[in-house]
Amino acid sequence: MKYLLGIDCGTSGTKTVLFDERGNTIASASAGYPLYQVQNGYAEQEPTDWKNAMLQTVSQVIAKSGIDSANIAGIGLSGQMHGLVMLDGDGNVLRRSIIWCDQRTAKQVEKMNSLAGDKIAQISANPALTGWTAAKILWVMDNEPHIFEKCRHILLPKDYLRYVLTGELAAEVSDASGMQLLDVKNRCWSGELCQILGIDKDLLAPVYESCEVTGRVTKQAAELTGLKEGTIVVGGAGDNAAAALGTGVCRQGRAFTTIGTSGVVFAHTDKPLIDPAGRIHTCCAAVPGSWHVMGVTQAAGLSLRWFRDNFCGAEKEAAAQLGIDEYELMNREAQSVPIGSERLLYLPYLMGERTPHLDANARGVFFGLSALHTKKHMLRAVMEGVAFSLRDCVDIFKSTGVDISDMAACGGGAASPLWRSMLADLYSCEVKTVSSSEGPALGAAILASVGAGIYPSVEQACDAAVRPDKVCAPDSERAAAYEKVYALYKKLYPSLRQHFAELAQL
Ligand code: XUL
Repeated sequence: MKYLLGIDCGTSGTKTVLFDERGNTIASASAGYPLYQVQNGYAEQEPTDWKNAMLQTVSQVIAKSGIDSANIAGIGLSGQMHGLVMLDGDGNVLRRSIIWCDQRTAKQVEKMNSLAGDKIAQISANPALTGWTAAKILWVMDNEPHIFEKCRHILLPKDYLRYVLTGELAAEVSDASGMQLLDVKNRCWSGELCQILGIDKDLLAPVYESCEVTGRVTKQAAELTGLKEGTIVVGGAGDNAAAALGTGVCRQGRAFTTIGTSGVVFAHTDKPLIDPAGRIHTCCAAVPGSWHVMGVTQAAGLSLRWFRDNFCGAEKEAAAQLGIDEYELMNREAQSVPIGSERLLYLPYLMGERTPHLDANARGVFFGLSALHTKKHMLRAVMEGVAFSLRDCVDIFKSTGVDISDMAACGGGAASPLWRSMLADLYSCEVKTVSSSEGPALGAAILASVGAGIYPSVEQACDAAVRPDKVCAPDSERAAAYEKVYALYKKLYPSLRQHFAELAQL
């Protein structure tokens, strides 16, 4: 039996999972790290934390599994998208990574629009976006020229981990799509866009398809982890494109929703479909010759984690005493409150928003608080607000003609039956889960299985490794109750848009 290793560099932590060829989990380990928010709207992480978390979890997984690492046929990497990692000529990290949910780059986005205009959407398939990498590069150029002048290589988070494992500088198409410097239709860097924006194309690493071999584990990385020197590392994928494979979304007509730190509604497409209004993103899929569209809620699981960390100390203690997960307890509390949280609504815009309101200034709101409300109501309102925002994404998909009726769910939030049923009721379709909950790590391992020659195509690897599990059906009575609250939710952002802009000026 051969094994595959999937490593997912997420926002709350890095998870490493060892799978067999059929996608069964053999062993897994996770390690967390902080998110630095030094100013309102800023979000940074330390690449060294990612590196240490990877080295630690890979060693742990190999030790736990008891297998001979010579039987690991390949490694796949997945990671949070858009984060900027800058290296000097010796491969040293120059500054903390400015990550996907950072919103500091409004001025740089204006600059991108004035320099490149329509070319940005024509080439990169997306409007200029504050959270994407190109704007962050321009921000460092504008604000930290002393750092930028030392920069020789620009990588994304998972590609930095590849560099640690293999010593190779490489990018791959799904994640590179989120840098806004890729010609997304032709799946290669755009010299033209780089030139217009004044970004030296040589700073970017060669770009591969997701299942291609990009390098091999070095002697040094092997010594640090217990991996076998020479094990192949494939391109891998951005976390959403990887999660798609891990949930079996590898063909046109399939879609999924993930509730991780961010929330994403994602559909696989055979052609690069571009939303003229720029409300949903278009990227290369991790399946060669195909693409995907996705709508992104910036603070999905992040909203619930924020609420837990700031207000749920008692639940944490109680859960520890009961020997259950604190989120399970929080779910039970939310479940005890009726739909609509007794007239309390939450807008999940803690980190600005992308879909459907592209607005870096938007911020979170509890609307309708009364003295009747308790923490449980607020908890449920947070979960409902995230589900409403994901429904916003689904409505845009529907309006652009993308079929999302075959809907799966994954990510930490999909483990909650309550959250899954909110999605089914709000989408008015079944929401399915698959037997493995390892989404991005499984997707990365699936890509490794193709690179290692175990399966001839990504689709065949997915068919072999992903199995359906539960189905959550919509309920018409609940759906009608949600619909009333959602109708009001939709009115709140437009009423507040101008005030969010004023808030940003305070
Ligand atoms: C997608 C996005 C997030 C990150 C973090 O555009 O920004 O989903 O990949 O998970």
